[in-house]
Amino acid sequence: MRLDKFLSNMGLGSRRDVHKLISSGSVEVDGNVITERDAKISETFQKVYVNGSLIPYKPFIYIMVNKPAGYLSSTEDGSGPVVTDLLSDVIRSYRPGVAGRLDKDAEGLLLLTNDGPFIHRVITPDKNVIKKYLVKLSRGITRSDVVQFEKGIRLSDGTQLKPAGLREIQGDGYFAEVSISEGKFHQVKRMFLSVGNEVTYLKRLSIGGLVLDGSLEPGEYKELSSEEAKKAYEQTDC
Ligand code: URA
Repeated sequence: MRLDKFLSNMGLGSRRDVHKLISSGSVEVDGNVITERDAKISETFQKVYVNGSLIPYKPFIYIMVNKPAGYLSSTEDGSGPVVTDLLSDVIRSYRPGVAGRLDKDAEGLLLLTNDGPFIHRVITPDKNVIKKYLVKLSRGITRSDVVQFEKGIRLSDGTQLKPAGLREIQGDGYFAEVSISEGKFHQVKRMFLSVGNEVTYLKRLSIGGLVLDGSLEPGEYKELSSEEAKKAYEQTDC
């Protein structure tokens, strides 16, 4: 990897900032001062110091995004804005993928990472990672809805879903919290349609034990440590 890219990716500033650092002689690689910004380094085998401090190589990034409605959670180009448009150039340069999509009109917790096995652990159906959603509905939920969700809804196309949690939430309108352990296409919306209800607003609150940070406004994001990110699959009953 180029030295300037390495330093920028490790959070030392924009390309312009790190070029200044490099040309000022503040950067050493394995004990040798390097002043060429395009010097190539082996990020796994060589040690990079800035002003004498070791800059550890971080191969993976984990990003918690509060996805706003109107953004596609796919990282590929589609119609309209995509969540990666919200990220800084440095974070985008890691080419993160999405650990569990959200519909374009949905909001809330979205996890992005370049750690492929992590994504697999979060989304694989065998792990039964619980995802919680806040929904606004066109009518209130009934005892029968709760029972049907708990037994496992059969969708109109015949798909039998696993048991899900449903509880009413007080609010200005008909709100509920839904807990599911799968991640089928439009699953929550289709579950409500099958009991004659309609989701008019949907927000993901948590994935496993990882809860959306309430201080993040829609469109904001924060980097998680790998320890924090792991909560997304370590706790399957949140
Ligand atoms: N269920 C849905 O219907 N949509 C989502 O985005 C997530 C779960």
